[in-house]
Amino acid sequence: MTIGIIGTGNVGATLGRRFAQAGYRVLFGVRDPHTEKVQQLIREAGENACTESIDELPRHADAIILATPHSALRAVIEQMGKLGSTILVDCTNPIAPGLRLAVGHSSSGAEQLARWVHDTPVVKAFNTMGWETMADPVFEDGSASMFLCGDDKKANQAVANMAAAIGFDPVITGPLQHARYLEPMAMMWIQMAMKEGFGRDIAFRLLRRNTEGEGE
Ligand SMILES: NC(=O)c1ccc[n+]([C@@H]2O[C@H](COP(=O)([O-])OP(=O)(O)OC[C@H]3O[C@@H](n4cnc5c(N)ncnc54)[C@H](OP(=O)(O)O)[C@@H]3O)[C@@H](O)[C@H]2O)c1
Repeated sequence: MTIGIIGTGNVGATLGRRFAQAGYRVLFGVRDPHTEKVQQLIREAGENACTESIDELPRHADAIILATPHSALRAVIEQMGKLGSTILVDCTNPIAPGLRLAVGHSSSGAEQLARWVHDTPVVKAFNTMGWETMADPVFEDGSASMFLCGDDKKANQAVANMAAAIGFDPVITGPLQHARYLEPMAMMWIQMAMKEGFGRDIAFRLLRRNTEGEGE
């Protein structure tokens, strides 16, 4: 499977390194492939990674991770043009100045994105934890949960498999509408990590009671 990644900041670079090291082919869709930052990232990610122009990504990638500021999404989508059945993985959080959500309650950034791309599957994922957890999702108590949602079941499963391959406990929560809850969940993480003194080395984990065999 080939994974395209747009954005080589904290999230894009971290996920790209992890996926390349897990054996996926990774194409970094960058504005300028010649910068030292991009060249160093390619060296760190290893032989499975290279750069590709953003507009060529949909022709080569099975899934494209969107790891830009939310405000850049529209421009990035327009630049890519025809997307076909390439899965879009939206890890952006629509954060407005003052650390508040720019979209919410009756919609979400991910649903807005889905309206722009029509029939292309959109999966909301990798938005409810910090990039440090993406680098290492395994804590003393177990793996961090990676909550995701989307309307296309096959796309959800593909992204869940990607998350599991880099050490997350994937949790498919349901339809894309659930991004209305996952985006505020990210805000909770941000408030706790950056304002309430918990620090960035925290992650959410879903606990499931094993009731198998009960009542036999
Ligand atoms: N930071 C976290 O821990 C975290 C966790 C979960 C989700 N998120 C979300 O993930 C997204 C990325 O966060 P980040 O911390 O990785 O941001 P970041 O470090 O600021 O990186 C943003 C990246 O987006 C690229 N970019 C910006 N505008 C672009 C455009 N028009 N076309 C192509 N590329 C563009 C930048 O490219 P250049 O290098 O060329 O400037 C940069 O590589 C945000 O939406 C954020 O809310 C962040």
